[in-house]
Amino acid sequence: MQSLLKDKLHRPLRDLRISVTDRCNFRCTYCMPKDVFDKNYPFLNKSQLLTDDEIIRLSKLFVKSGVKKIRITGGEPLLRRNLDKIISQLSRIEEVEDIALTTNGVLLPKKAKQLKNAGLKRVTVSLDSLSDKRFGKINGQGIPVSSVLTGIASAEEAGLEVKINMMVQKDVNDDEIINMIRHFEGSGHILRFIEFMDVGNSNQWSLKKVLTKKEILEKIKQFYTVEPLDQNYFGEVASRFRIKETGEEIGIISSISDAFCSSCTRARLSADGSVYTCLFSSYGTSLRNPLRNGESDDMLLERIEELWQHRSDQYSKERRHIQDDKKRKIEMSYIGG
Ligand code: GTP
Ligand code: 5AD
Ligand code: SF4
Ligand code: SF4
Repeated sequence: MQSLLKDKLHRPLRDLRISVTDRCNFRCTYCMPKDVFDKNYPFLNKSQLLTDDEIIRLSKLFVKSGVKKIRITGGEPLLRRNLDKIISQLSRIEEVEDIALTTNGVLLPKKAKQLKNAGLKRVTVSLDSLSDKRFGKINGQGIPVSSVLTGIASAEEAGLEVKINMMVQKDVNDDEIINMIRHFEGSGHILRFIEFMDVGNSNQWSLKKVLTKKEILEKIKQFYTVEPLDQNYFGEVASRFRIKETGEEIGIISSISDAFCSSCTRARLSADGSVYTCLFSSYGTSLRNPLRNGESDDMLLERIEELWQHRSDQYSKERRHIQDDKKRKIEMSYIGG
């Protein structure tokens, strides 16, 4: 039966983004800067993490509340042991139409086949530069571009659909937009450009570092003709475009300059079992604690539905009116973007 659950702004619950770990093998300057995420950083310990069974149990309840699409995130989700077992169980939930995963790609050579066999349909790989020197600096670990490209190739080989996310920062990598388009031309992978967002409190975000959707398009239009495409589905995050000369589709994700909150159908489940109804939430609501205290499925379901019914988040839309720079915001690596 179709769920009629809606939030205060009449948005249905459709997507669940599950973070399976808060750890990552990268230290991207804009997400987990090395000086903050060092050996003293209080990462979650094993007992705090949801177990595989807990993830599945909660996912099933979200599906009962309307979720059709699941995205696995992290940190770096491929660091989680037995991820294929989790995916295999998620893919057996009848109402789930799409299971995707967002990754930095370097562990794909080891894991892509396994994950595809488990029922994963597609991966989105982050890649911000094609220059080793620059990429090594951005990822904070000197990891070369080839490690990610090899990962992308293994995903292709395994039969996974692939998208590429490039986070664009002014004067950091905005001179590579055209190179990236050229590099992935003919690959069949949709390339998406993401505006630098003010997620978390540790990435030194400033509006000056943001290249807006309009500016991204202007850069592309110096070389190509670009035509807008319709949304694939209600609530799609990226605006889609086609490059006329090549026929390639690209996407732009414009949380800063052109917010998409009015159609936001996403809930986020952190690795320690808290629900966040916005990427920019200050706090989540634990489902792990009541679950471990023995609450029944019905009681947990009621919590999820109540949370969604009370939701009125639209941070990106209201951002320009929010003067509070000190607002506590959850870190991207904890909530998975
Ligand atoms: P598709 O399922 O392929 O449409 O992927 P997606 O764009 O929903 O997911 P992905 O993990 O690739 O996210 C792309 C970028 O959009 C990341 O930087 C996310 O942090 C950002 N993003 C995803 N959902 C939201 C959202 O609800 N609000 C904001 N502000 N950003 C989001
Ligand atoms: N702004 C925009 N995108 C970000 N990502 C990580 N941090 C930010 C940020 N501050 C991107 C990653 C990855 C996706 C999940 O989110 O590059 O592609
Ligand atoms: Fe970089 Fe993604 Fe890891 Fe963050 S979670 S440090 S964006 S690879
Ligand atoms: Fe949804 Fe919050 Fe992102 Fe707006 S800012 S689209 S409400 S997650």
